[in-house]
Amino acid sequence: MLDLSPKIHDEARQGEAYAPFAKDENPYRKHFYIESYGCAMNFADSEIVASILNDKGFGATRNVEEADLIFINTCSIREKAEQTVRKRLTEFKKLKRARRGMLVGVLGCMAERLKAKFLEEEKLVDLVVGPDAYRTLPNLIEEAEGGQKAVNVLLSRDETYADIAPVRLNSNGISAFVSIMRGCNNMCSFCVVPFTRGRERSRDAESIVAECAGLYNEGYKEVTLLGQNVDSYYHINEEKDETVTFASLLEKVALISPDLRVRFSTSHPKDITDDVLHAMAKYENICKYIHLPVQSGNSRILQLMNRTYTREWYMAKVDRIREILPGCGISSDIITGFCTETEEDHQETMSIMEYSRYDMSYMFFYSERPGTLAARRYQDDVPEAVKKQRLVQIVALQGKLSRESNERDLGKIFQVLIEGESKKSESDWMGRSSQNKVIVFPKAGNAFKPGDYATVEVVDFTQATLIGRNVSQP
Ligand code: 5AD
Ligand code: SF4
Repeated sequence: MLDLSPKIHDEARQGEAYAPFAKDENPYRKHFYIESYGCAMNFADSEIVASILNDKGFGATRNVEEADLIFINTCSIREKAEQTVRKRLTEFKKLKRARRGMLVGVLGCMAERLKAKFLEEEKLVDLVVGPDAYRTLPNLIEEAEGGQKAVNVLLSRDETYADIAPVRLNSNGISAFVSIMRGCNNMCSFCVVPFTRGRERSRDAESIVAECAGLYNEGYKEVTLLGQNVDSYYHINEEKDETVTFASLLEKVALISPDLRVRFSTSHPKDITDDVLHAMAKYENICKYIHLPVQSGNSRILQLMNRTYTREWYMAKVDRIREILPGCGISSDIITGFCTETEEDHQETMSIMEYSRYDMSYMFFYSERPGTLAARRYQDDVPEAVKKQRLVQIVALQGKLSRESNERDLGKIFQVLIEGESKKSESDWMGRSSQNKVIVFPKAGNAFKPGDYATVEVVDFTQATLIGRNVSQP
């Protein structure tokens, strides 16, 4: 699941390894263990890797000790994310000494960024495989088993893994990620993604709809359509002479069933269109929640970031969302201390947060990434202490905004998709509203199960959670 609680995201999200089979019924002759870091796209990619590995005769295990192959699907977005991975690789190296024949592979963005350096300099790993090269894993594993160092970090202009059915890892059986495009063409100056994930390309719409329909038939109730910039989704079906935009794709997925919730992430403020907002308004099951990263509230900094919108333009987009979709949840990504950011610029970020009334934000201090436009053009001149102090301020402000947003929900009624038991209390259900807020409510007096929709009235709240009571008809 996407971790959507408000927190400082200066460390990569961390995944686990998973076992779709109990040990004694695992039909596979060998085992792989995979750990994922970073964005939802990486978690979705690990599910594609799992599918390719299953075909090669490897079954997933969540026990690293019994793995013949260990994979770490990595993130390069901030330096801290890379440090976490390096630490983990050193731990795997110790395991490797104890277990002859065990292979360790680095996947994802760090593999792409550091390429063969991983093999030459560090001798930590046996395989290095970039995000567009997962189809070649079977051959690479054979090379590595034969004692060769196996690397494939070729980026592709057309790989979308459209025909590979992901093996759902660590799934709650209710929500799933569906990747609709890969790469990014935006070149935000702070961002390493266009270098590690390559050019943007959209996956064929029919395969997306088929995957979502398949999930629904298996009992899933929610799909999250994933891309670095979903609003620039664009696919031409030459056979049908049909052009599919993101708005029309949303509509196709929404039509699978009114019982299947549709979410998406991430939207770029410059690309989200009125058509998308109208599609959201038209279909009840397209969730009223938009992740709309602002990054900074100051137009000069936005220009240096190459975000291609101004403060005013962003505010007008927020107005438009509120006009077409009253009550829509909005969240953001924010970076403090980007090159040349002054105290006044920072204050403008604070004021745009107030203006946008974000329900939630992911907040970071700027971390210079080698090779990016900003690293080449601008000096990383805001002292770390100042970056961190500004981060503390925006985190505190977001806390206040989240509490205020929750307070506005008091007395309101929401449809909640139940995901499972509350982590904090066995006697409560946990689910989400369409606006993506976590709602807990008592199990007593109802016979719901995970995957059911409940109608819940909000009676109390904390900063991160709404507390409700079931008002569904029996
Ligand atoms: N430093 C800090 N934060 C970054 N992000 C991307 N690159 C950097 C960087 N170099 C943040 C942006 C983006 C989110 C996924 O990560 O806010 O939206
Ligand atoms: Fe990075 Fe910008 Fe692309 Fe997002 S839109 S992945 S921040 S370049």
